[in-house]
Amino acid sequence: MLTRQHRRFVTATILLLLATSTVPVSAAGEARRGEPLYQRYCTGCHGIDGRGGGKNFMPHVGALTRKDYIEHLGDDYLTFVISEGGEAAGKSSYMPAWKSVLSEQDVADVVAYVRSLSLQ
Ligand code: HEC
Repeated sequence: MLTRQHRRFVTATILLLLATSTVPVSAAGEARRGEPLYQRYCTGCHGIDGRGGGKNFMPHVGALTRKDYIEHLGDDYLTFVISEGGEAAGKSSYMPAWKSVLSEQDVADVVAYVRSLSLQ
């Protein structure tokens, strides 16, 4: 049995490891959890690496990877456009709303993952 102090120590160590790992972890979302969601739901249009050119025909999907671009988009906006869809955000209506598929946590994780794409 671990004592309470031990448990606290273990928790603190795990948090420290998470904070210092190479995958960017934002306060709200985790890129590592967002990756499989992105691969499953987003690559068809945004491409495997977020550069567009997915296998589905799309009129225009801008790259999600340009650092100078994505940096200027706030988490609020990204969360909104992913949850509510392109049309609600004044973008193409081909961008689906994901709120019925993805939980709030899922969306936060996907946002973290999309941000990590531009660092690669
Ligand atoms: C059916 C095709 C399709 C799928 C699937 C799709 N998107 Fe999109 N997405 C688009 C289109 C089209 C746009 C609008 C691009 C534009 O107007 O510049 C867009 C826009 C966006 C934007 C806003 C970009 C900007 O410049 O403001 C984000 C962020 C985004 N998508 C993320 C996602 C994520 C995350 C997923 C998966 C959960 C996803 N998309 C799935 C087609 C798609």
